[in-house]
Amino acid sequence: MTQPLMSSRERILDLLRRDPGVWMSGELISRELQMSRAAVWKQINALRALGISIEAQHARGYRLLDTPDLLLSAEVLDGVDTRIIPRSLELLPSTDSTNLQLRKKAEAGAEEGTVLVADQQLAGRGRLGRPWVSPPGVNLYCSLLLRPHIPVQQAPQFTFLSAVAVVDTLKAICDINAQVKWPNDILVGGAKIAGLLNEMNAETEQINYIVLGIGVNLNMTADLFPNELKYPATSALIETGHRVPRSRFLRKLLQQLDFYYCEFLEQGFAPIRQRWEQMCPIVNHRVQVDGRLTGTVVGLEPDGALRLQLDSGGVERVIAGDVRMVN
Ligand code: BTN
Repeated sequence: MTQPLMSSRERILDLLRRDPGVWMSGELISRELQMSRAAVWKQINALRALGISIEAQHARGYRLLDTPDLLLSAEVLDGVDTRIIPRSLELLPSTDSTNLQLRKKAEAGAEEGTVLVADQQLAGRGRLGRPWVSPPGVNLYCSLLLRPHIPVQQAPQFTFLSAVAVVDTLKAICDINAQVKWPNDILVGGAKIAGLLNEMNAETEQINYIVLGIGVNLNMTADLFPNELKYPATSALIETGHRVPRSRFLRKLLQQLDFYYCEFLEQGFAPIRQRWEQMCPIVNHRVQVDGRLTGTVVGLEPDGALRLQLDSGGVERVIAGDVRMVN
């Protein structure tokens, strides 16, 4: 897949965002971006049509009046040339849970590749019945519908698929080196930056649909995390000191998800498994599971179990448990 270039519209917005509130002449913009002044004007109008407040004055040029981190489908989809994801993209200002809403759409026959994103979730759901903190305007809350023709046992493979897509996107957009934690956390320096909630509906061994829920802490500040959080958490902003435009992050994430899903349909799980194993610090290391089994992690099983070469000899499949590295 080729890396998309920023559209001229985005490049103008990017320039104006560097100094919000400060006038920038049309001449300067056209010189910087090597566009005609008429083309600049056209793109400014297109940005305004997207709801972005830009003031224009003949003698002074243009200035951004506010810098909301908007999630706009035109911005997200600008230049996207993917095969399956997203077939359709819906951005909601607020919902209870994007997973919950997308499951309803799936029941009603929504097609594979449907993506639902919300600016905020009022009942965001995490694994093990935990809530997922989802304040407005800062993070990414996204659900994706897939309808793969595979046996039920292979459904967990999509958790790993979404994990590699999220790690790639954190690297490409935020220059963050994240790691995966089995089975489905994304960590930076031991703190959770993203979580995945893979929900499946199946009948007679065949999958009807999978809803992949992806939550990424992007521009969340430390004070927005509740005190009673069960694990250390972080965000891209906390890690880098820079805000991440959510539309740009989402666009790259959708492209990576599409890339890996198409690869999966053509080549199966092996390439994704290999990438995930490279991103997982416990692979090829000794671990202890639930304080009892000790051995070396040798990789992932097709059903998402961890394969453990036991110190005592033999191989054990770990389906669930607390896995800690030991020397
Ligand atoms: C976890 O516990 O680590 C999984 C968190 C998954 C959160 C995402 S946010 C988008 C989607 N909608 C939800 O209600 N949950 C998932």
